[in-house]
Amino acid sequence: MIFVGTLEIVFNKPLSNEMLKDVENLVEFLNRDYLKRGAKRPEDAATIKEYSISSNIISMRIETGSRVRPDEASLRIKNAFANNLGPKYKIGVRDIILKNVKIVIEGKISISLKLPFIRNISVEGDKSVIELSELHEEDLKKPLFLRLLRLIEEKEKRIKWGGKAEHWILIKSSGAKIEKPVVEDPNKILEDIGWIKRMSIGQWLYTPPITHLLNALKKLFLDEVVKPLGFQEAVFPKMYPLEVGLKTGHLRGVINSMVFASLPRSYDISEYEELIDSMYVMDEVEPQELQKYLRPPSYFLCFAQCEPFYWFFENEIVDDSILPVKWFDMSGPSFRWESGGIHGIERVIEFHRIEIVWLGKPEQVIDIRNKLLENYEKFMDKVLDLEWRMAWVTPWFYEQSGVVEEEQREININVPGTIDFEAWLPYKGPREDNKNWLEIGNISIHGTKFTEPFRIKHNKGETLWTGCSGFGSERWLLALLAQKGFDIDKWPKKFVEYVKETPFPQSIYTVSYPKTKEGKQLLEKIISQFKW
Ligand code: SER
Ligand code: ZN
Repeated sequence: MIFVGTLEIVFNKPLSNEMLKDVENLVEFLNRDYLKRGAKRPEDAATIKEYSISSNIISMRIETGSRVRPDEASLRIKNAFANNLGPKYKIGVRDIILKNVKIVIEGKISISLKLPFIRNISVEGDKSVIELSELHEEDLKKPLFLRLLRLIEEKEKRIKWGGKAEHWILIKSSGAKIEKPVVEDPNKILEDIGWIKRMSIGQWLYTPPITHLLNALKKLFLDEVVKPLGFQEAVFPKMYPLEVGLKTGHLRGVINSMVFASLPRSYDISEYEELIDSMYVMDEVEPQELQKYLRPPSYFLCFAQCEPFYWFFENEIVDDSILPVKWFDMSGPSFRWESGGIHGIERVIEFHRIEIVWLGKPEQVIDIRNKLLENYEKFMDKVLDLEWRMAWVTPWFYEQSGVVEEEQREININVPGTIDFEAWLPYKGPREDNKNWLEIGNISIHGTKFTEPFRIKHNKGETLWTGCSGFGSERWLLALLAQKGFDIDKWPKKFVEYVKETPFPQSIYTVSYPKTKEGKQLLEKIISQFKW
């Protein structure tokens, strides 16, 4: 990225001939030293390409790279002139004006013309040129201007990152474990036997038998992985004010997969008369009509499930006595609008998970992540005996919050980032093909990604980090069923113990449900194993 533009330094009186040598020396010093500070390569820094003087204005053509941007360069130039010419010649700087700024970016980008300071954007060959409107000193110092530059920088990084969005490096795997793969799709079996019923796209009702299995699996996970590390349960809200999503970055990064909620416009039922009358007579509800009675959305439904944790500590000052904080939440669903590939309970819009969250100093956060990782591995490998693998993936929060980091060449898992856990779904096809694996969970350390925007502080000024990990209950059960089938003799012993802790609930078996004869027969066969 390069910036070009004209900087005008406006003095309170005309420059005299005796000052010319000083101006020349100052420009030389700026180009050689002051404007190069903070950049390793000169092209990333700033340079005054030429200058001219007319009465009380010095006009300079400047070019800058991304390290010393035009705002920073302009302020440095102003300071140099004010501090050097000022006292010697009793002359002051009245204003600085940055004109005709063009930002040249490799690749084709677009940016909203409605944003302040953006005058035009054009694509020239494989470069994009963004023109900014005239900027004065106070504009250059505004956070708004800095955020605009950051947005442009991020867009450029995104282009560079391009198709490599799926950054995936294998860390470890169980190796091939399954000799005789189950070929049936467990999603289909669950639907056929009536344990799950689809309410709408990607949304299911889980009847008591499958709820029993989900609960057994969640309890086993808590006992094996979460509770031994001292995590304690909390109840998080499941509908969040928009400001929270602005701070976490989700609104900027994944707005296309979020579900929003609106409040009614009025609490007065009489104002709904027309709508109610229409529903009465027409026996239908017109969403467009309904919308007129609603306020614009002011919430988004639980997306990452850890958002309330950061919100809770917003502006709080914590000390060592409570660190690290270790909580988990399993009090309700998460929502993710998926555009394609919705399938069974594997890829849904409403899902349930145990969200594990922690806050502490960097070394505490890393240590907890490492211990969790050990427990997860034991859980997948020994307790559930799954065929699994884990991979270092593009930090989800970088992707999800719209910030894309440069590609990391070597993996060092003790830096902010995410590890995904995946299970092979044999019914989908061979293990060699990545599309036959399902992400069942992840574990992340975020660095200061959340502690910074939420201003979570330590009383002695130490850095605080956070971490989170999601255990998607339906996906874990699905993975287990996909690998072990419905024959409970093949299920992991510990899991069966948990399933048998309480009586197995009755399946729904009516004249009309499950729908098919085959489904009913299969259900009978399956439930005959659950008598104890
Ligand atoms: N909050 C994390 C995520 O959304 C882990 O569940 O992926
Ligand atoms: Zn999270």
